Amino acid sequence: MSAHLFVASLYDALMVPADKLGFEQVRRMVTRNAKGKVLEIGAGTGLNFKHFDGADCVFATEPDPYMLSHAASRLRDCSALTRAIAEELPFPDESFDTVVSTLTFCTIGDPLKAAEEVKRVLKPDGCFYFAEHPIAEKRILAKAEKIATPVWKILAGGCHLDRDILSYFKSAGLIISEIIRLDSFFVAGKAAKSQAYAKPGLAA
Ligand SMILES: C[S@@+](CC[C@H](N)C(=O)[O-])C[C@H]1O[C@@H](n2cnc3c(N)ncnc32)[C@H](O)[C@@H]1O
Repeated sequence: MSAHLFVASLYDALMVPADKLGFEQVRRMVTRNAKGKVLEIGAGTGLNFKHFDGADCVFATEPDPYMLSHAASRLRDCSALTRAIAEELPFPDESFDTVVSTLTFCTIGDPLKAAEEVKRVLKPDGCFYFAEHPIAEKRILAKAEKIATPVWKILAGGCHLDRDILSYFKSAGLIISEIIRLDSFFVAGKAAKSQAYAKPGLAA
């Protein structure tokens, strides 16, 4: 994974319009469900940190050193930041109550391996909350996303517009219990590693 000084410097400013248009609410929806010992993967500049009110402690990972330095300035009490890719999480099996990812699976080099890692580090009754932008359902939008991705990837720090992100979660064995389509671009959702804990509750 390469480091992106330019993207990291502009990231917060670029997120202002998205957050104003409703993504801030999505961040809140996903993070307010985060309970107990929480892991956030690909934390970027740490825009989610201020929302983790229900967590006992938050472990955040981020591989890009430039993103990491912004995130470090947002760390709160009882939180820790580690440089790591989501494909190789430096944590033992079954060590987290909650794993959170927002806008990260579009960029991860091997998203299936990362989804397997999410499953590995979740406790048996743990939950995975996510907000991502999978490839559009509408065929014409999906086609536009496929065409735009080679250029977009270069401009946006490796972000793919055309990934079938939910299929990686399913292939890794995560059971998706809830999907909220926010618009034709973003989805938020909840998954668990066993059917017994795969219950809706994201929007509750
Ligand atoms: C679009 S940003 C999202 C940042 C943050 N999650 C947010 O919601 O603002 C994508 C993030 O994924 C990180 N990333 C890239 N490759 C990754 C990998 N292999 N594992 C984990 N994170 C990765 C990038 O460095 C970047 O911080």
